[in-house]
This record gives sequence, structure tokens and C-alpha cells, in this order.
Amino acid sequence: MSGIAIVTGGNRGLGLEVSTRLAERGLHVILTARDPAAAAPLVARGLAVEPRALDVTDPASIARLVADVGERTVDVLVSNAAVSLDGFDADVVARTLATNYTGATAIVDALAPRLTRGSRVVLVSSAMGELGGLPKAIRDRFDPPRDRASIRAALDEFLAQVRAGTHAKAGWPSSAYRISKAALNAWTRLAAAELAPRGILVNAACPGWVRTRMGGQGAPRSIDEGGASLLWAATLPPDGPTGGFFRDGARVAW
Ligand SMILES: NC(=O)c1ccc[n+]([C@@H]2O[C@H](COP(=O)([O-])OP(=O)(O)OC[C@H]3O[C@@H](n4cnc5c(N)ncnc54)[C@H](OP(=O)(O)O)[C@@H]3O)[C@@H](O)[C@H]2O)c1
Repeated sequence: MSGIAIVTGGNRGLGLEVSTRLAERGLHVILTARDPAAAAPLVARGLAVEPRALDVTDPASIARLVADVGERTVDVLVSNAAVSLDGFDADVVARTLATNYTGATAIVDALAPRLTRGSRVVLVSSAMGELGGLPKAIRDRFDPPRDRASIRAALDEFLAQVRAGTHAKAGWPSSAYRISKAALNAWTRLAAAELAPRGILVNAACPGWVRTRMGGQGAPRSIDEGGASLLWAATLPPDGPTGGFFRDGARVAW
């Protein structure tokens, strides 16, 4: 494969794995991270890896990356950076949504002008974002997604209710991570429809439960296995699916 790939959160875990694999396949990988020093061993191996600093929660940092990309076309964009914070309160909810939803989607919007026909966008999601286990009143906020404003309104309401201590009564789970990924999945469907006229493939992909710092050492999957699930979505042919949620190349329910 040739072209340019951009990966967020590329300094460790699944982001580093996907960056490595894409570079090994011949792509020029812009490995972004808050501290992109982890790119050095890949560069030393002779892989075409370009380290760039990026904090997905910082609009100025995103703007600097966009400027660094310049006029180049982006063939693969893997929005991978995320947090899974300990505890549950309004601060945890706000910080989780800022990274896993607002940051993860802002980078796609910022780079959308650089995508072209056949480009693949992968929003790294999770089974935790599946709507199945949630009450209908909450599912209905995300499925089907109406527009970006309705997703944002749902997230604002979640945060306000956590702050007020009323979220559980309204049916929201006590998990910021779960809601952040449910919202990311809903956004993926909207972005896929928006970018479809330009022939751009936008999918959510779940790596499964993986032994990373986030997943912990008790997880059943290796980074290699989890990475393969993401790589599938990042290397789809131009006539591949768009607007779906996949694990190991198989569709999973929203
Ligand atoms: N591991 C699992 O079992 C599992 C399961 C389902 C889904 N996922 C998803 O897979 C993706 C990768 O997770 P992982 O398991 O590889 O976790 P990880 O090892 O904890 O890596 C998370 C990555 O996100 C980066 N990050 C966090 N906040 C950031 C920010 N504001 N700006 C830029 N980068 C930021 C981290 O960078 P720093 O080093 O700077 O913190 C790190 O590179 C995530 O989207 C996660 O939700 C993981």
C-alpha cells in the first residue's frame, strides 16, 4: 500500500501497533501523540514514520497538525486516542467526553478536507459503546442519530444530570466511557453519510478486549490481535463498507 496515514494516540498500545503495521505495509505514517518520542525506534528501523505532537483535546494542537499536513492527501486516518478514567463524577465525565468524543471527532473534521476518494477513516470504538444494554430512552438519543446537535445535546444532558445526581434515575449508566463510545458510534454514522458523496469510507472499529495499559494484563487479546481488527478497517478497498461498526471484519450491532 502507499499513501499517507495519520494515527492519533500513536505512542503506545493499539495506536502504536496500528502505526507500526501501516508503516510496514508501506504507508507514510504520521504518528501523532502528546509525546511522539515513541516513533523513534520505528524511524530507526527505516520505516517512513513522521512523529508529530498532538493533543486531541486542544484545538490549537489540532490546527498545528493540520498545518503540518499541509496540502498532502490523507489516505488513512485512525482516530484512536482515548481515555478510560478511574472513578465516576462530573469531572470524569467531562474529561472523558472531551477526549473520546469531542477530540476523536474534531480531528476527523479538521482533516476532512485532506481526505480523498477511497480514503478510510477509522473511529476506534468499543463494545462498551454498544447500545444493547441501555434503556430505550437512552438508546433513542443515539439510534438512529439525527444530527450532531442532538448527540451534543444528549451528552450535555448526561453531564448535567451527573452533576445534579439525577443521571441514574434518567437511565444513564454510571460510565462516562460507555456513553463516550456510544456517542462516537452515532457520530460515525453521520460522518459516513456526510463523506459518502466524496467516496470516503468512515467506520467504527472495536479491537476487542486487549492487553494494553487501558485493557489491563487480564484481557484475553494480544495487541497483535486487537490491532488486526483495526487494521482491517484502515485498509479497506475503495468499494468497502462505510457507516458500520466492525470487530475482526464482522459487523456488530450499534
Ligand atoms: N484495550 C482495550 O481492551 C480496548 C477495548 C476497546 C476499545 N479500545 C480503544 O482502543 C483505543 C486505544 O486504546 P489502548 O488500549 O491502546 O489504550 P492506551 O494504551 O491507554 O492508549 C491510549 C492512547 O490514547 C492517547 N491519548 C489519551 N488522551 C489523549 C489526548 N488528549 N491527546 C492525544 N492522545 C491521547 C494516549 O496517549 P498518552 O500516552 O499521552 O496518554 C495513548 O496513546 C482507544 O480508543 C480505546 O478506547 C481499547
